[in-house]
Amino acid sequence: MKRLRVAIDGPAGAGKSTIARRVAEALGLLYVDTGAMYRGITWVALQKGIDPVDAGALASLARDVHMELRPEKDGVRVWIDGKDITPFLRDPRVSRAVPVVSGVPAVRGRMMELQKELARRGGVVMDGRDIGTAIMPDADVKVFLTASLEERAKRRVKELRGYGHRIDPDQVGRDLAERDRADAAREFSPLVKAPDARLIDTTGRDVESVVQEVLTLCRTRLLKGEE
Ligand code: CDP
Ligand code: CDP
Repeated sequence: MKRLRVAIDGPAGAGKSTIARRVAEALGLLYVDTGAMYRGITWVALQKGIDPVDAGALASLARDVHMELRPEKDGVRVWIDGKDITPFLRDPRVSRAVPVVSGVPAVRGRMMELQKELARRGGVVMDGRDIGTAIMPDADVKVFLTASLEERAKRRVKELRGYGHRIDPDQVGRDLAERDRADAAREFSPLVKAPDARLIDTTGRDVESVVQEVLTLCRTRLLKGEE
């Protein structure tokens, strides 16, 4: 079977990780959550007391950090310098600082290098903001997932409550909108739909129907590859 490469991009809360993980499972591919990589380095920076606008300190951190993504049954776990930091990735302080940290060219450069290395092996479903444009511009299947801001905020509120965080739903909506704005305004590999990506609006749709739509795109591509 062809070593399929699937790129899934879109704004926060569009369902990228949920859909990407399910598609990877169904096709026996590796799932790579690139957002978790940016969240991981942001958490470590905050722990070390590094200011998210201190590009010099972040550049050294990005160079020296040892990051591993370990796929497990309940999802991908992120290990940094020998410690599993997955439980901290959704901390609201990380969510607020991550678009600043991810905009630092040295941080992006390092993360992109690691992601391209994983992409080269193929057999991968990768989700993020710049996968179809910068990491795998020649991916076999490219999807840009979206949903209304209102629906994405509702989903995130539900998720955060599940993690036990105390939250203000209006603040969650404002934070999502601000993060999308920063991600789209970034100079270096911003959040943008690749011209050849399939746009899927998931507003009002359940997970299963979106998974099936992406799987159909993948299977069609696989069949074409065998012709
Ligand atoms: O899950 P959610 O959509 O909230 O975010 P995420 O995928 O975990 O990504 C967190 C942040 O990492 C984004 O808001 C971006 O600032 C950054 N990111 C990026 O710059 N490029 C990527 N390929 C993935 C994430
Ligand atoms: O990775 P991203 O931030 O794009 O989204 P996520 O972390 O996968 O979260 C999306 C949430 O919306 C999850 O709780 C899903 O169960 C839910 N959801 C979805 O992903 N897709 C739908 N069509 C409907 C709901």
